[in-house]
Amino acid sequence: MQETRSSVGLHVNGRRYELEVDHRVTLLDLLREHLGLTGTKKGCDHGQCGACTVLVDGRRANSCLLLAVAHDRTRVTTVEGLGGEGTDGLHPLQEAFIERDAFQCGYCTPGQLCSAAGLLAEAAADPGATDLSRSGIAEAMSGNLCRCGAYPRIVDAVRDVAALSQADAPDRAPGDGRVVA
Ligand code: FES
Ligand code: FES
Repeated sequence: MQETRSSVGLHVNGRRYELEVDHRVTLLDLLREHLGLTGTKKGCDHGQCGACTVLVDGRRANSCLLLAVAHDRTRVTTVEGLGGEGTDGLHPLQEAFIERDAFQCGYCTPGQLCSAAGLLAEAAADPGATDLSRSGIAEAMSGNLCRCGAYPRIVDAVRDVAALSQADAPDRAPGDGRVVA
């Protein structure tokens, strides 16, 4: 099959990249194979496990399902950049995952972290539409599979950070995306 290549420009973790890629290259493979950002994991490669979750323009997405060439000029955040663009610091979610021991093998963890960061961003943008109860978090992150069964602690960690976020926004109306039992 003949290769067709095009140039694509992406901001990844605050850094600008210009590459020429085969049109068949997924965003996941671009991150891992072309940029060396191997924190994002390949599990199923078919959109079914969530291991490859990253933030694309702030929204969570399965990078194995996205063609890199179709994402010219987008901003991508991977687990390497969650702590802050261009810093080595940990995101509060990463600290909470450590505190709660919310992983075993860790293979799903980068995807879980990016998915949780996206979920909390969704809650901040539209509190009334986001259910941050245990079941709500589990449902919202149901696309991120954990073969080790760390789900209860993952939910605990996400709730910890959601509660911190709420403490920073005390003037919200009751029931608008707050953490509830
Ligand atoms: S590797 Fe992308 S969803 Fe499984
Ligand atoms: S911690 Fe092993 S797959 Fe989730």
